Amino acid sequence: MNKTLLAIDLGSANITAIIARNNLDYKINILGTGSYKSDGINKGVISNIEVASKCIREAVLLAKRNTTEQIDSTVVAISGAYTKGIRSSGSVNIPNGLITENEINQVLQMALYNATIIPEYEVVHVIPIFFKIDDSADVENPLNMNGSRLEVAVYVVTAKRTSLTNIKSALKIAGISVNNFVLDGYATAISILDEQQKKFGATVINMGSTTTEYVCYKGTSLIYEGFIPVGSNHITNDLSVMLHTPPIAAEKIKTEYGDLLKTSEDLANKKIRTPRIGDEKNSSEVSLEHVQTIIHARVEEILMLIRNNLKKSGIHENLGTGIVITGGMSRLIGLKELSTLVFDGLPIKISNPVNIKNGYMSFEDEKMATIVGLLLYSLEPNRNFELDSNKNLIKKRKIQDNVEKAENNISMQKTKEEFLNQHNKEQKIKQEEHIIKGDHNTTILPTISKDKKGKGMSRFWNVITEWF
Ligand SMILES: Nc1ncnc2c1ncn2[C@@H]1O[C@H](COP(=O)(O)OP(=O)(O)OP(=O)(O)O)[C@@H](O)[C@H]1O
Ligand SMILES: [Mg+2]
Repeated sequence: MNKTLLAIDLGSANITAIIARNNLDYKINILGTGSYKSDGINKGVISNIEVASKCIREAVLLAKRNTTEQIDSTVVAISGAYTKGIRSSGSVNIPNGLITENEINQVLQMALYNATIIPEYEVVHVIPIFFKIDDSADVENPLNMNGSRLEVAVYVVTAKRTSLTNIKSALKIAGISVNNFVLDGYATAISILDEQQKKFGATVINMGSTTTEYVCYKGTSLIYEGFIPVGSNHITNDLSVMLHTPPIAAEKIKTEYGDLLKTSEDLANKKIRTPRIGDEKNSSEVSLEHVQTIIHARVEEILMLIRNNLKKSGIHENLGTGIVITGGMSRLIGLKELSTLVFDGLPIKISNPVNIKNGYMSFEDEKMATIVGLLLYSLEPNRNFELDSNKNLIKKRKIQDNVEKAENNISMQKTKEEFLNQHNKEQKIKQEEHIIKGDHNTTILPTISKDKKGKGMSRFWNVITEWF
């Protein structure tokens, strides 16, 4: 039985809630959507639990308008404001030579055990960068392969416990309990990047209202994440302060006149009237050239901060297919051109998430990148092996089984012979379903004991550090 998921993106501008589940053929079926103006969340952090929980409740109530389905599980995106990414590695022996999900779980748990996690931080993701079997080259998916030793290099995302607790508290007041956390940047990358970009690597920048989050993705994993507590609202504030106009008017100026492609000649003598702050009956005249200078300065500053950070971390030289930008601020005209200049000619793409067709809202919108990523993270069957925020193994799902099940249900009243065949099939499915437990059909495998450190780790670690 497929479970019903509630996905929540706690943005500083908007809170978005989506209720969805998989069809029998594992297509994502959207059951309800809700979006509510955010309050009590600033720069990715809950700043007022009571206020934030009211907004969350409203967004979820909107999503629940069209469905009576009971929510089985809730997944929430968390900001990079309070996360830290670390690398680690692990290795295990394969006693009977065949690598099953058990060994994959064990080696990931071992890599997690080997990671140096700051005491007040909790694990959110353990994502394999690559596997190795014996001394073979990098293996993407070790399942059912043979060998005597399985090794893995992982990227571990951890988050400050108090920040996660504040999110849980805000949701609890709204009557919701959280089952899984997903890093905003990771969810965004999942929804934005195509297979080529994932394979050869790309940096994804999510430019929101008060935050700019970025991750570097390669193969099946993150290899770097970063965060800047600055977003499009800062442009609004700059305009408001420098043009002496109320924030509402400044926001309108930004979205209507913001255009980084316009030159001084284009804008010469062009003026607009804006209301004066504190004296809104009167307006003043401002030059559009001045408006563009203010917007340009802030956007350039954000891009330069990212570039400098990527350069400092050594990632800049290894950005693969380039940079993909999304989030509400990516709507700003000319952002692609300015980014190309700042990032020294690297390929820049402004992108929407993949659309999941539904009767409620279009997901083909830069602001929807994170929420669509949450849906794909939780409901997309073709997932890679990794550990989720409960340290449980996520694995690829058995699509074929479910298709068979659907077909079986339809042919229920056929001949006796057919009925018997069908019965056998159902028994098989039941047996297999017995193994599949936990939220959204993820398999929960036991964690390994903490006293078994992998052998030859330092040698393996050297290989990993060389790789980066
Ligand atoms: N044309 C535009 N130019 C610049 N900014 C824009 C434009 N259109 C929308 N925005 C900004 O996009 C922001 C909303 O984007 P988004 O929904 O991605 O933010 P959020 O996810 O709620 O915030 P955060 O991720 O920072 O918590 C608003 O600040 C809005 O002003
Ligand atoms: Mg956002």
